[in-house]
Amino acid sequence: MAEELDIKRIPQHIAIIMDGNGRWAMERGKERSYGHQAGVDTVRRITSECTRLGVKFLTLYTFSTENWNRPTDEIAALMGLVLTSLEDEIFMKNNVRFQVIGDIGRLPKEVQLKLQETMEHTAKNDAMTMVVALSYSARWEMTEAAKTVARQVQNGELKVEDITETTISERLCTNFMPDPDLLIRTGGELRISNYMLWQLAYSELYFCDTYWPDFMEADLRKAIADYQGRQRRFGKTEEQVETEQGK
Ligand code: IPE
Ligand code: IPE
Ligand code: MG
Repeated sequence: MAEELDIKRIPQHIAIIMDGNGRWAMERGKERSYGHQAGVDTVRRITSECTRLGVKFLTLYTFSTENWNRPTDEIAALMGLVLTSLEDEIFMKNNVRFQVIGDIGRLPKEVQLKLQETMEHTAKNDAMTMVVALSYSARWEMTEAAKTVARQVQNGELKVEDITETTISERLCTNFMPDPDLLIRTGGELRISNYMLWQLAYSELYFCDTYWPDFMEADLRKAIADYQGRQRRFGKTEEQVETEQGK
């Protein structure tokens, strides 16, 4: 049965840890990269569905800092997939702007150029922003933010007593978007794996066993329905929140 969603309460920002590609492929007697290839089709399906639903930001964990420790042939296959799957047509058809976060300087030059090109070509699209986290980890990101703050204090641009939470948020590579409302992790693992540790402070978490290549539009709608059934209290009481919502 199709999930009934409250169109007024669609999460503005959905973050996804796309996990389970390797296991999906192994179960089929194939190489892990076959699963990554299949995962690209899921990215297309889920991106389209998010634009249809009115999601504004979709942040996809594609390659973590720790993933650099994988076998070199798997890394090469993943980099190859990034190159071939960034087709302007998909972004233009859905009016989606493309952005990337992460330690981009570590990526092969041709991948860096392709990312740059896609960001430029899609810069004016405004239905949704799709953000790919590549060579990304939250600890790397927060360390970089700490260095920026230290430099600014050192050269007198910033005073220690003026440092607030906003000072930090503004120096993270996610500074152009709101924090995720909903985090989805596919593939059955119950962990965050160094993903947006600062930004996920008050996100609703949703874990499912489905491997990423098998994750369908209906699964996304199920996650959103689950999210809509929750009360976000941000430290307040149930009663306070209900009063604010006029219930
Ligand atoms: C997630 O799938 C994609 C990346 C980390 C690049 P995995 O490759 O981690 O798949 P599993 O978890 O081994 O099944
Ligand atoms: C997390 O998946 C990173 C991405 C989905 C890109 P992993 O499969 O690398 O995470 P761990 O190692 O199981 O925690
Ligand atoms: Mg995994």
